[in-house]
Amino acid sequence: MKITHLRHVAIIMDGNGRWAQARGLARVAGHHRGAETVRRVVTHCREAGLHYLTLYAFSTENWARPTFEVNELMELLAEFLVEQEDRLKEHGIELAAIGDLGRLPNRARSLLERVMKTTSGLDGMRLTLALSYSGRDEIVRAARRLARRAAEGTLDPDAIDDRLFGGSLDTGDTPPVDLVIRTGSERRLSNFLLWQAAYAELYFTDRAWPDFGPEDFDRAVAWYHSRKRTFGLVEAVG
Ligand code: FPP
Repeated sequence: MKITHLRHVAIIMDGNGRWAQARGLARVAGHHRGAETVRRVVTHCREAGLHYLTLYAFSTENWARPTFEVNELMELLAEFLVEQEDRLKEHGIELAAIGDLGRLPNRARSLLERVMKTTSGLDGMRLTLALSYSGRDEIVRAARRLARRAAEGTLDPDAIDDRLFGGSLDTGDTPPVDLVIRTGSERRLSNFLLWQAAYAELYFTDRAWPDFGPEDFDRAVAWYHSRKRTFGLVEAVG
């Protein structure tokens, strides 16, 4: 399926742990399968012609999980970066990251920085990983940065508007989210892209992330195209 009139899809990849537990496996087995789904979905989105894909890979709340699980997730991230660097370049995919990246372990952070640098400027698709991310934390950090500039006298507080504030978020010049997909049955945003998804269409599926495939993605996109987006306005008449 070729994607048109849809620039930015953001995915809450949920259900890894339950997928594993339902099969009598350790939760981390679900994350391993989930990492394979990431590879599959990224390739599919690039081939379909999507411009921006953002994945919720690790929330600030996830730091409170058992150390073993946190370490395993960080290891999977590092593995993904090592393995995928060349493929991202081949496919013209620029890697970006949002979140409180200073909290990531050194190895994951330096790999992330390296791949972001070597893929910088590629214009096939931008893949953004949300890592140590929460929407409120991102908004607070942006507010703090702007307040600091105002206190230094380099920014007029009256100049702060929707556009300036939005551009000060970690997502920078990434356009607003058109479609949020959440796998794994829950129906909430869980602190994901609170500002950027203000007018996004929200698609929920019971499919657990390890089982999510290109056909599920296409189903979500087809549903998106069936929606009428009014952005708070009324539909044009005549
Ligand atoms: C939610 O499932 C998923 C996560 C907390 C992590 C998502 C990570 C991956 C898909 C793999 C690594 C990422 C990359 C980019 C290679 P859950 O554990 O909350 O599931 P549950 O709700 O069933 O417990």
